Amino acid sequence: MSTVGVVGAGHVGVVYSAGLASLGHRLQVIDIDAGRVRDLSSGHVWFHEPELPDLLGRGLSNGTISFTTSYEQGLRGCEFVFVCVPTPARADGGLDDTLLRGALERIAANVPAPKPILVFKSTVPVGSARLVREFPGLEDVKIVASPEFLAEGTAVRDFFAPARIIVGSSDHDAAERVASLFAPLNARVIVTDPITAELLKLASNAFLATKVSFANVIAGIARTVGADAGTTLTSLGLDPRIGGSHLRPGLGFGGSCLPKDLAAIQQLASCADVGAPLFAAVAEVNRRQRELAFEIVVNHFNGVLQRRTIAVLGVAFKPDTDDVRESPGALLVDEFLRRGADVVLYDPAVRTIHRARVAPSAAEAARGADAVIVATEWPEFRELDLQTLRGLMRGSLVIDGRGVLRSRNASGLIFVDLSVGFGRTGDGPAVAVGNLEGAMS
Ligand code: UGA
Repeated sequence: MSTVGVVGAGHVGVVYSAGLASLGHRLQVIDIDAGRVRDLSSGHVWFHEPELPDLLGRGLSNGTISFTTSYEQGLRGCEFVFVCVPTPARADGGLDDTLLRGALERIAANVPAPKPILVFKSTVPVGSARLVREFPGLEDVKIVASPEFLAEGTAVRDFFAPARIIVGSSDHDAAERVASLFAPLNARVIVTDPITAELLKLASNAFLATKVSFANVIAGIARTVGADAGTTLTSLGLDPRIGGSHLRPGLGFGGSCLPKDLAAIQQLASCADVGAPLFAAVAEVNRRQRELAFEIVVNHFNGVLQRRTIAVLGVAFKPDTDDVRESPGALLVDEFLRRGADVVLYDPAVRTIHRARVAPSAAEAARGADAVIVATEWPEFRELDLQTLRGLMRGSLVIDGRGVLRSRNASGLIFVDLSVGFGRTGDGPAVAVGNLEGAMS
């Protein structure tokens, strides 16, 4: 059993803490937010993540996990310190290391002896392992870049079944020691240098983003030529060289990771004078997907959204999370509000957002709406029946941004499916996105 300090009680920090505690380690988690520390200490996870409250509860009740605002207390006796602070996007696309520097400064001021191994878990700017040397007291500390690959909504499952564990360090022994913390998971371990580990994280997310935009372009072509996008993409993904994940077309990718890491790698690519147009195109296709949905609504109402009620179903960037960062649904809500529309939203996990009204259910959101748009594939939206929606709505425009609605009978509706044909036959009169006149009233 090892004593592990974790700096940052966000999505990554809490999942790793609860997960490592369940593997038999003692976890001491530090966060500067006293409210968060209080909540987590009593078992309340401040964000929505399936299975995490139970896992945390087990660690709290057997005393293997504790939370504190004190670096001195949290770092005491630690053999490892996992750095899990956010690195948001800067205006130029690079990653902002302000919080990372702040955390390193506090770690340096409280570093215990013997010195723990420092582990970068959250995504850090490429080259951050070198940054540590700037902090007096940390010059001789061993550093391991070990990026996480947890996806929100399945983070606990991902923790216990990692596709690989990356440990990047100039000190082979330190890398092996970090890998040994996860030994019970029997995962494949890749030992490399820190820069390679840091770049790998950005490359991984950039590739997933590229797959989503690729799927959206193929779906657009399929709609135009009359092919079935679903069959095309599902069959494509069956090739093990390609893989089936991140090939669902629709409103595009959001969240705190894919857009940010794509911008960061694009910036690196332009510095290296290679490949930046590739990443720019991926981002542009993604933006265009959202714009398409917006244009369909605006065109439908002849350019005037005032006095129109638009129901947005789903504002979390994906199901099983309450995260709205860079969420296509939340960005659409912003756009509709900016154009003067009355926006009502429903999301099973998100309770408030901006100035939009929040309805208690999808049906209540749709009641009296002029247009309904499904922006997140929450499972409960699969149960929505188009004719029921028709009966509730004042208007007739329904946009399915995720290909989840049952389209058995779309009569009386103008029904636009941004992922036409995906995963079902869709026998209603879906309007091709390329044919916007069909969506005009
Ligand atoms: C992503 C990566 O998948 C994780 O491996 C990584 O650890 C994490 O970022 C991170 O850097 O921390 P996450 O952002 O939680 O995880 O979500 P994804 O499941 O990758 O989905 C990202 C976005 O793409 C979502 O908005 C989702 O709706 C969209 N998406 C995903 C599609 O539009 N189509 C798909 O087929 C798949």
